[in-house]
Amino acid sequence: MHVPPPGSYDLTWRERVRLRNGRSATLRLLVPEDRELYLQAFALLSPHARYQRFFEPKGQLTQAEVHYLVDVDQIHHFSIVAVVGRKHPHGVGLARCVEIPGQPNVAEPAVTVLDAWQGQGLGRVLLRRMIEAARARGVERFHVDVLADNTPMLNLMDEVGVQLLPAREHGVVTLDLPLPPPAPPRPPRRQRTPLERLLRLAAKGWLRVLERKQA
Ligand SMILES: CC(C)(COP(=O)(O)OP(=O)(O)OC[C@H]1O[C@@H](n2cnc3c(N)ncnc32)[C@H](O)[C@@H]1OP(=O)(O)O)[C@@H](O)C(=O)NCCC(=O)NCCS
Repeated sequence: MHVPPPGSYDLTWRERVRLRNGRSATLRLLVPEDRELYLQAFALLSPHARYQRFFEPKGQLTQAEVHYLVDVDQIHHFSIVAVVGRKHPHGVGLARCVEIPGQPNVAEPAVTVLDAWQGQGLGRVLLRRMIEAARARGVERFHVDVLADNTPMLNLMDEVGVQLLPAREHGVVTLDLPLPPPAPPRPPRRQRTPLERLLRLAAKGWLRVLERKQA
């Protein structure tokens, strides 16, 4: 994985998305300063959602886990967070992408949306933006284990065209998703000269030549 091209899902990227409930959320990369925001969101996550995400009951996170989850390098490990509220911003969803050790350009995705915000289209937009952000970093495929009874995640991954790999473990489904390379950036447009702009308007029939009345 490599540094994304400037402006392509880097630290300057912000996107406002509208959810089914009419609320808006801002998407951006998670940064180490989001530690409190992350912990507050984790505290609101139901035991069921935590189990689906971590494959084990997760009461509290250890210091080491918080460090791993929040102090990310933005290249081999990054997360997109969905934030609501201007005065008191809080996180309502997160998509994480981690390069798998020993497998360059293969990454593990994970998406989590707070229970109260599920079913609003946030998981879908987070997954889609994470795919784009991963492609911008050179990720060529996603590989992820999902609990076999996690229908929401399986349906969500099905939308983006995952393949099911042979089961390795009872109760777990292994998914594989090849990611196409990102489209090459368009060359910057050359500024047209005033004459070129006039000729273009004339060619489109948008220019009317008025005759000057003789005095
Ligand atoms: C999986 C998860 C991220 C989905 O997030 P979400 O914001 O609720 O999903 P969306 O509203 O964007 O729904 C997108 C699609 O996912 C599927 N989906 C979502 N919730 C579903 C449900 N309860 N039952 C079946 N399918 C569901 C549907 O195909 C849905 O499309 P539709 O709304 O057009 O029917 C969310 O359920 C979650 O955080 N679960 C707990 C953590 C987890 O399991 N993470 C995955 C581990 S890798």
